[in-house]
Amino acid sequence: MQIRFADSRPTGDYALVLPVAGKDRSSLASLGASKNAVSAALDRQRFEGDASSSSEQFIDDGGSPRRLLIIGTGTGTSSHDAAEKIGGAAVSKLQTSGETTAVIDLTGLDYDADAAARVGLGAALRSWRYDRYRTKLKDNQKPTLTEIVIVGADSGGSKRYEERWAPVVEGVSLTRELVTEPANIIYPETFVERVRASVKDSGLEVEVLDRAAMEKLGMGALLGVAQGSVREGRLLVLKWSGGAKGVQPVAFVGKGVTFDTGGISIKPAAGMEAMKWDMGGAGAVAGAMKAIALRKARANVVGICGLVENMPGGNAQRPGDVVTSMSGQTVEVINTDAEGRLVLADAVTYVQRNFKPSTIIDLATLTGAILISLGHEWAGLFSNNDELAGKLQSAGEESGDKLWRMPMAEAFDRLIDSPIADMKNVGPREGGSITAAQFIQRFVENGVKWAHVDMAGKAWSDKAGTTHEKGATGFGVRLLDQYVADVLER
Ligand code: BES
Ligand code: MN
Ligand code: ZN
Repeated sequence: MQIRFADSRPTGDYALVLPVAGKDRSSLASLGASKNAVSAALDRQRFEGDASSSSEQFIDDGGSPRRLLIIGTGTGTSSHDAAEKIGGAAVSKLQTSGETTAVIDLTGLDYDADAAARVGLGAALRSWRYDRYRTKLKDNQKPTLTEIVIVGADSGGSKRYEERWAPVVEGVSLTRELVTEPANIIYPETFVERVRASVKDSGLEVEVLDRAAMEKLGMGALLGVAQGSVREGRLLVLKWSGGAKGVQPVAFVGKGVTFDTGGISIKPAAGMEAMKWDMGGAGAVAGAMKAIALRKARANVVGICGLVENMPGGNAQRPGDVVTSMSGQTVEVINTDAEGRLVLADAVTYVQRNFKPSTIIDLATLTGAILISLGHEWAGLFSNNDELAGKLQSAGEESGDKLWRMPMAEAFDRLIDSPIADMKNVGPREGGSITAAQFIQRFVENGVKWAHVDMAGKAWSDKAGTTHEKGATGFGVRLLDQYVADVLER
């Protein structure tokens, strides 16, 4: 989708999109002679301008018909929120409509440059789809909309869009692609290659550890998970040094289980196909690193993706096996389906040994239990530092990737003590997301600020939202990008 900003409406064919805020119809003024007829039609449709309501009609525009899409924005939402919704709604209504251009007229809304740019952001994000495997789409199911023109806004909108939001669209798109691809296409090695190709000209430094390299480092926890698959594991390192020399980096660490069968503790068949997106945390880290590199963020950040396929092959680890992690701590693997924490344990140790980060933020589709707690609206946030947690929650509100803080405590930590090793990889069923977080915390070294985001309910959505189609959401990219902008670039 091409996003353009212009001073006035173009000539020729296009669909006109006008936002209407609640009962205030002043934005219809620009329709000139058609204004009263349109307003009467809105009354007859019982249109009240609520957020997420819309009305489509055709008007006579100098003798030829023009499609008019009225989008309700409601009242009382911030202009940023409303702006993304306008762009998203315009695309969801018009993408396969037959129109090729939509002109969104913001005249009278008093949007600043950023709000105008966010109309473009919402439109670009909502237009993402992945049709690679659909060979039989009928013509009228194919997208026709290729261009969005935003008019009537502050002249800084275009610059703001290109500098701040176009890179985020690129990052989110990469994440959605990785999450959408099935596990026969994206596995550890191909995840690395897909990301490498995608970030080729971004300025990111890329480093990859294969099995031999990880064996040398003693990453027994990650390798124990990987050993049941014929696909080798990988550790992908993406480095962005846009900040001052010598400033400790912040580390993002992502769970990248490219398929999670559960291993020998195998999952039930129904719904198992969903486990292709068990790499959503790693996908978000890759997408966020691409976004911050493309917008040349003034910050030092390192992104680590722990990539494995959890399979029940002949060489798979067994329940009861004891593995030695890179940290030296031993783990009794009670349940091979609690594999994400084993991968994160070694990834977290690796990043501390090699990059001395001040702060670690890990993202993972870690537990089914977080869905029971928070459903699909919020991701769970766990942290050893109140200030970091607060900043992440703010970034979550600002970006729309919302986080709800969950408790951690010594009492939960005791639940993963093992009679034979330093710890076991599962606790009781109750508080399952918390004991998972406590497990990761055991690998966080003294003085390192750490937060863990359990996004099991957020990587994939069964229904379309304002800025995404059904399917991969791209959750986490905007959260991390906003954290960098709010905290590291100040
Ligand atoms: N990848 C799953 C978590 C998950 C479940 C994500 C459902 C999205 C939807 C994770 O590896 C897992 O299997 N967790 C187990 C842990 C249990 C064995 C302690 C779970 O949540 O059931
Ligand atoms: Mn699992
Ligand atoms: Zn998993």
